[in-house]
Amino acid sequence: MISKEIKIAFEEYLTLEQLTSADKDLCLEAVKAMGNSHSPYSKFRVGAALRLQSGKIIYGSNQENVAYPSGLCAERVALFHWGANHPDDPIISMAVTAHTNEFSLVKPVTPCGSCLQVLAEYEQKQGKPIEVMLYCQNGSIWKTCGVQCFLPFLFFEDRLK
Ligand code: THU
Repeated sequence: MISKEIKIAFEEYLTLEQLTSADKDLCLEAVKAMGNSHSPYSKFRVGAALRLQSGKIIYGSNQENVAYPSGLCAERVALFHWGANHPDDPIISMAVTAHTNEFSLVKPVTPCGSCLQVLAEYEQKQGKPIEVMLYCQNGSIWKTCGVQCFLPFLFFEDRLK
């Protein structure tokens, strides 16, 4: 038996001012995106913003539904919008933020498995990783290099194409 280990690297920034201006702006765009969250059931508002190679920004926010499973996370709303409308303009980075009046968020919210799976598909499709910034407005910012940092054992099989 050989015991193996995978290390996952990410960066932590204590304030927005420590980020590059492009990254800081994208975090603020995620806050803006959160404004259109439709989350009357969870009261948990999430915003996501994508920065494309052309400079265009794509916005997403969580959209809930009275038939609960019909709702969708902010990240997938943004990513599917990109896939449907801008598939030839690569995604450079994504910023995500969240807010609720129900309790205090003291660390960044991390994307769910389904959103990571969609992120993985689009990284493969565009042939480039997508940096992810997770912005906690009362805390720090975590920056990762893409889906590999979240799911190092991600399923992918090129021959299924
Ligand atoms: N949610 C997101 O939009 N993104 C995440 O990363 C975590 C969860 C949404 C789904 C649902 O509308 C609410 O937050 C509570 O789970």
